[in-house]
Amino acid sequence: MLLLHAQTARLELREFTIDDIANIYALESIPSVARYQKWPPRTWLEAEDVIREIVDDQKSIPREHFELAVWHGRTFIGRVGANVKDGQASLWYSFMPAWNGKGFATEAMKAFISLLGPVRLKIECDPRNTRSWRLAERLGFAKIRLTEKEFVCKGEWVGSLVYQKEPPPPPCLETIEEDEESS
Ligand SMILES: CC(C)(COP(=O)(O)OP(=O)(O)OC[C@H]1O[C@@H](n2cnc3c(N)ncnc32)[C@H](O)[C@@H]1OP(=O)(O)O)[C@@H](O)C(=O)NCCC(=O)NCCS
Repeated sequence: MLLLHAQTARLELREFTIDDIANIYALESIPSVARYQKWPPRTWLEAEDVIREIVDDQKSIPREHFELAVWHGRTFIGRVGANVKDGQASLWYSFMPAWNGKGFATEAMKAFISLLGPVRLKIECDPRNTRSWRLAERLGFAKIRLTEKEFVCKGEWVGSLVYQKEPPPPPCLETIEEDEESS
């Protein structure tokens, strides 16, 4: 099983377990967290389903769905996730409003992205979700597409803003040869 873990200056990113139902419920039952998602605020039963799916996905080979719980000390503050396939990762994130505005999402996403390795990264969000696209820009993503009316969700037309970041180029051959000669 491929399990991920990261430690940053202020945060720990760890795999979800079946004991995290209350944490997902606490986060995703908040109306402002669900505002720009396709789903309404989650019920407890929906939170149970979310956790079961996340835990099941951890066992998939190859693993394509990565989802980590973000902890600040002993407090669960959010989640980061990615679907990774064919060298491309679609990313998402959501954090407890009480912990917004402190750079935690930026710090967690930087650590999460380095765990994913050299893949092309994508973030798609509702153009009205200013905090989300500002996070993409803080992470160095480039805006590649804006569609004003993409689909109808929760009774209204929703646009789509897509950000992308290319993986860093592989180290060049000369550098490797130089390093080998000098060692
Ligand atoms: C999207 C979301 C994660 C962004 O959260 P955020 O708090 O704006 O992002 P960060 O935690 O990186 O904090 C950035 C803010 O902290 C400030 N900050 C303080 N210290 C910082 C540091 N060390 N590093 C970076 N930023 C720092 C930044 O200046 C920025 O301030 P601003 O809000 O005045 O612009 C959050 O709004 C959220 O969870 N929304 C609900 C779920 C959602 O919509 N998800 C996206 C679906 S596509």
